[in-house]
Amino acid sequence: MRLAIIPGDGIGKEVTAEAVKVLTRTGEAFGRRFEFEHLPWSADYFLETGITIPSDGYDLLRGFDAIFIGALGDPRTPENRHARDILLGTRFELDLYVNYRPVKLLDERLCPLKNRGPKEVDFVVFRENTEGLYVSIGGRFKAGTDDEIAIQEELNSFKGVNRIVRHAFAFAQSRGLTKVCMADKSNAMQQGHALWQRVFKQVASEYPAVQATHYYIDALAMYMVLDPGQFEVIVTNNLFGDIITDLGATFQGGLGMAASGNIHPGRTSMFEPVHGSAPRFAGKNIANPIGAIASAALMLDTLGLDQEAAAIDAAILKAVREKQVTPDIGGTLGTVEAGTYITNQIHPSRPA
Ligand code: NAD
Ligand code: IPM
Ligand code: MN
Repeated sequence: MRLAIIPGDGIGKEVTAEAVKVLTRTGEAFGRRFEFEHLPWSADYFLETGITIPSDGYDLLRGFDAIFIGALGDPRTPENRHARDILLGTRFELDLYVNYRPVKLLDERLCPLKNRGPKEVDFVVFRENTEGLYVSIGGRFKAGTDDEIAIQEELNSFKGVNRIVRHAFAFAQSRGLTKVCMADKSNAMQQGHALWQRVFKQVASEYPAVQATHYYIDALAMYMVLDPGQFEVIVTNNLFGDIITDLGATFQGGLGMAASGNIHPGRTSMFEPVHGSAPRFAGKNIANPIGAIASAALMLDTLGLDQEAAAIDAAILKAVREKQVTPDIGGTLGTVEAGTYITNQIHPSRPA
């Protein structure tokens, strides 16, 4: 399998190196050949060349079986143009409409919520990934003056809402789950989110075996903290999904733990940890590589390599249980050493 690797900026580079190490070992253990092609697109590359992503970049990416990204964002490029073109651009251009973000606690010790363990913190968020407030439609009038007017439109299309909501229900059904919760702000956003309401009710009616519930996003944030055990599948828009998955990451032990996939079922998809480039952590060998490694597992799982993905997840779990991890989750290892520990735990699963 041919995999595009975009380490990006800051700790993105460090955690990506560990994910690639784990993938390499997994390939060896299971007799699979992963071919990695490292792409240099990053803040450094942009500052050197003026290029965020080459003009044929998206076409190039479409030619791989999957894409792995570390993180993009750098204090020297405050407008975030390269991240917009590389990260958001790929989501849009490859039409990766499903942002899949599992919120799964591996060990009660890591959860900041009182008396909550792996049983209560185990749900997935489907974040719409191609529209909403992220499309950057709008503009500024009289910019830089006291008369400045800034308009940023939220795009909600029937096609966009329908496909992510359907994906959430189909996922629930395929996994034997019985609950899907949609979160919007239709009490205040009476145009776009009325569309979410209409579509959600329609799709829910086609899945009588799935209990469909709705919360306004503010209440959802509150219930996530108070009673996460009630959730199995959450579906929401682009911005709300971004926000609640950082919150969800804290339940898992922090941003260093959370994995994600940007998926268009059946097409080249992109996988990345939920966290960013954490500039203050960069170059210190302290970033937690688990979010990146778990994203690599998600990538293999999506490519149909479920045994390989399970072997990586088992190795991560072992590292967490044995505290062979970085300081953010109570260990003493560096990024490289934590990645090496997980790498050395990769074994093909044997029948019990
Ligand atoms: P961030 O996720 O980079 O870091 C926030 C904090 O979370 C860090 O200071 C650290 O305390 C913790 N953290 C994050 N990753 C960690 C890890 N692997 N191990 C241990 N602790 C970790 O968020 P930010 O500071 O808001 O953003 C920094 C830059 O990253 C910005 O430029 C932002 O736009 C960008 N960003 C990129 C992505 C992406 O590429 N997918 C995602 C989020 C943010
Ligand atoms: C994420 C990030 C991105 C987003 C940023 C870097 C644009 O926060 O992937 O969660 O908001 O989607
Ligand atoms: Mn985010």
